[in-house]
Amino acid sequence: MRRPLVAGNWKMNGSRQEVSDLLGRLAGLELQQSVDVAVFPGTLYLERAVAGLKNNIAVGAQDCAIRDGHGAMTGETSATQLRDAGCVMVLVGHSERRELQAESDEVVAEKFVAAQAAGLIPVLCVGETLQQREQGRAIETVTEQVEAVIRVAGIDAFANAVLAYEPVWAIGTGLTATSEQAQQVHEALRGVIACHSASVARELRILYGGSVKADNASELFAQKDIDGGLVGGASLDADEFGAIIRAAGI
Ligand code: PGA
Repeated sequence: MRRPLVAGNWKMNGSRQEVSDLLGRLAGLELQQSVDVAVFPGTLYLERAVAGLKNNIAVGAQDCAIRDGHGAMTGETSATQLRDAGCVMVLVGHSERRELQAESDEVVAEKFVAAQAAGLIPVLCVGETLQQREQGRAIETVTEQVEAVIRVAGIDAFANAVLAYEPVWAIGTGLTATSEQAQQVHEALRGVIACHSASVARELRILYGGSVKADNASELFAQKDIDGGLVGGASLDADEFGAIIRAAGI
């Protein structure tokens, strides 16, 4: 049985004051035992989040350096440094980074490996653009994004990772994939993993992301292959995020 995970991606949002307020409200949420919860604040606020969240909300980073360890990589933060700050997870391959930072599948794969080498759980984000969906290439696109990581990291690495399906056209747009559209891709992704290892596929948590809100979460999370959500905008409001977490509860 896969435990649902609800993850909040704060992106480049928040001031010190706003982050403190949000952390205070999240720390006050009563969480169900049956759901794992994580938040991904901006790098500057990671330690503050680790210190402020004692109620079983894990903290993750939004990105890590391509190589682990220390050294001459100006401006980067290594997975080991993130672990040292108290992070347990890290997003890799978010579509905003694939687009804005031109991160290729190969770069994403290296970050995935670097994260695991440092003891972090990578949350691998995949998703098709609107054009790719309209061309009927949604499943082909996400399959290639996942296979690129399997080629480098190996299938067993997915025993200690999370996958997030985030259709690019649904991120921050208010357009959500229907639960049927999402389930179809989630099932296909689990099938891709199952071609390599049935047991890894059975255990792998696949999150849906893209305009998840309190009022659409239950229907999405009720799908057989959807094991929770990666929530952007709605995770900045503690009440809304709390309602999404409750929707994932059993
Ligand atoms: P959104 O973002 O919920 O604001 O659409 C999701 C994400 O990018 O992780």
